[in-house]
Amino acid sequence: MIKPELLPGKQRCRIEIGAALLARTGELIREILVGPHCAIISDSNVAPLFGDHVKQRLASSGFQPVLITVPAGETSKTLEQVGAICDQMIGAGLDRQSFVIGLGGGMVGDISGFVAAIYERGIPHVQIPTTLLGMVDSSIGGKTGVNTRDGKNLIGAVHHPSLVIDDVDFLKTLPRRQLNQGFAEIIKHAIIADAEMFTALRRVDLSNLAPLIRRNIEIKSRIVAKDELDQTGERALLNFGHTVGHAVERAGDYREFLHGEAVSLGIVAACAISIKKAGLPKDQRDAIVDLLSAFELPTRLPANFPRAKIFNALPFDKKFERGKVSFVMTPAIGSARLSSDVTMEDIREAIDQL
Ligand SMILES: NC(=O)c1ccc[n+]([C@@H]2O[C@H](COP(=O)([O-])OP(=O)(O)OC[C@H]3O[C@@H](n4cnc5c(N)ncnc54)[C@H](O)[C@@H]3O)[C@@H](O)[C@H]2O)c1
Ligand SMILES: [Zn+2]
Repeated sequence: MIKPELLPGKQRCRIEIGAALLARTGELIREILVGPHCAIISDSNVAPLFGDHVKQRLASSGFQPVLITVPAGETSKTLEQVGAICDQMIGAGLDRQSFVIGLGGGMVGDISGFVAAIYERGIPHVQIPTTLLGMVDSSIGGKTGVNTRDGKNLIGAVHHPSLVIDDVDFLKTLPRRQLNQGFAEIIKHAIIADAEMFTALRRVDLSNLAPLIRRNIEIKSRIVAKDELDQTGERALLNFGHTVGHAVERAGDYREFLHGEAVSLGIVAACAISIKKAGLPKDQRDAIVDLLSAFELPTRLPANFPRAKIFNALPFDKKFERGKVSFVMTPAIGSARLSSDVTMEDIREAIDQL
């Protein structure tokens, strides 16, 4: 339960960003939540690293935490796991006053947020992201959910966290490839909204990421606030690079490319289309490709990768088939717009060039 005095008016989400925050988890949560029961949901990679520490900090602040671990990986983001987690929470005595903590990357954030949204018809959610992607992207905006047999994120709820704790120290154990995929979303934010950040990214200081994380949270929050429910097209700007990116991810059977890597390729394709249809200067496309490469993100497909598979994985629907598609383009670094002037042929051409 959120402390009643914090409730009147629009519910705010508090975000703490910095180093050594893990040690303060209990007191930070104590400032806004009552408990005492809570569930820490984590995965099999993150729980052994940080699970006990978080549990101890909560216990020493008077909470009664239960640590629930799911196998690491996207395959755990299912309704079956949601059911199993809820059963364990009921068994541990969590009630309407209780809350849920997601300790992990975007996978844990999405499933723990969904559990929080439906348990007892909704209890508070605390996000403790441990990946860069989790900090700059998935913990912001309130989208939670799970995958089904037929696709990703088809079942879900909008449930904003009450508190997000971004401790940059978690990133020390994060594999480099995982860190880099977080930069794909950061570069995306720069392209659609912040030319200055784009330039600054060329000399990013990996030992001091907090200011960069803060800036990215501001960008995403600002866009989400304008279009919370995905209705005006503003929030769709965050999908820059994702139309082709998702198709690449699917064509690689979700194994060959990490999400951020697929988005990197999708950004390159979106740049090709932006040159053709939105007047993006070629040298700006080159600067984008250089920056993606600087973070070891792919900007070309492996030579033997079946391009047709990507094209076939595009989200075909009636609207798509009639020719024009709603597509995010960038006319210049730092800006983006939704266009209905892009055809399937334009996309096919861009994929062929990858
Ligand atoms: N809700 C949203 O708005 C939103 C936005 C973007 C992505 N997502 C979702 O986020 C997920 C992808 O997020 P992700 O890339 O963080 O994936 P993830 O949660 O699967 O984490 C990636 C890998 O890193 C490991 N890991 C996490 N933190 C670690 C650490 N500190 N040290 C060592 N290993 C660590 C995890 O165990 C996992 O193996 C997808 O499910 C995607 O759908 C949601
Ligand atoms: Zn993404």
